[in-house]
Amino acid sequence: MVKTIAISSGKGGVGKTSLAVNSSIKLSMEGMKVALLDADFGMANSHILLNHKVTNTIQDILENKAAIEQVVHDTSSGLKLIPGGSGILELLNLDSKKRWEIIRSLDPLKDTLDYLVVDTPAGASDASLEFAAACDKVVVVLVPEPTSFMDAYAFIKALNMEKNFQNVSVVVNLAANGAGAKKSFDSFKKIVTKFLSIDVEYAGWLPRSNLMASSIVSRKPVILNKSLDKTLNGNFSSIANYFLNFEEEKSSGIKFFNK
Ligand SMILES: Nc1ncnc2c1ncn2[C@@H]1O[C@H](COP(=O)(O)OP(=O)(O)OP(=O)(O)O)[C@@H](O)[C@H]1O
Ligand SMILES: [Mg+2]
Repeated sequence: MVKTIAISSGKGGVGKTSLAVNSSIKLSMEGMKVALLDADFGMANSHILLNHKVTNTIQDILENKAAIEQVVHDTSSGLKLIPGGSGILELLNLDSKKRWEIIRSLDPLKDTLDYLVVDTPAGASDASLEFAAACDKVVVVLVPEPTSFMDAYAFIKALNMEKNFQNVSVVVNLAANGAGAKKSFDSFKKIVTKFLSIDVEYAGWLPRSNLMASSIVSRKPVILNKSLDKTLNGNFSSIANYFLNFEEEKSSGIKFFNK
């Protein structure tokens, strides 16, 4: 059974794509068969981080009746990439039928994967919520800033109220250190659980790292960098471990692989 994980956020630019790409590669380094779906349709950029030239994208499934196998790209990192298409205006405002078609189009990959990681668009739009809720596990990226707290709260509230999710996980990015990350998580959890009936779990943290910032320019995921320090490698290991061991969310609705 494929385990499916959404990487989401309230606020944009908090590190979703960086987390999605590097943690997916880490999972494949652990021997898992992993595909990354770039669901930031129309503005997709995972392929840039992976330095992978993409030919077919999700657009070819919607418009040219391409099969999913023609859209899955084997990247040099070992990760399989399903690109969302960038600079394509038609992909920016997909209606719910098209979103459903995309979710169902992945069904044939069921026996070829251990994990599907979905990089969702920022915010609580219908598309973000629907792709997140189609996964077993939703991981919200939080940065230690009031605006990120507010937007992450709004996203989790929508996931809870509209999609009936009872459980969500959080990765704190751009933290000064582990203790600071945990403190941010604890205060965020306190706010969420005060107002919503949802469980909030800690999935790990990442430091502010020059290596991560420059990896986007050098187009080489930081997890593949030979000068990656032990600490950052450890951060990604913990997050990958969390992904390997989480309990699946039992929510209803449209799910990847018809679970
Ligand atoms: N831990 C980190 N340390 C330093 N820079 C980081 C870190 N995480 C992300 N960044 C940088 O922040 C910027 C935004 O990251 P990223 O594209 O991963 O965010 P995002 O949430 O996917 O954004 P969007 O909402 O636009 O999709 C990038 O330039 C990235 O290199
Ligand atoms: Mg992104």
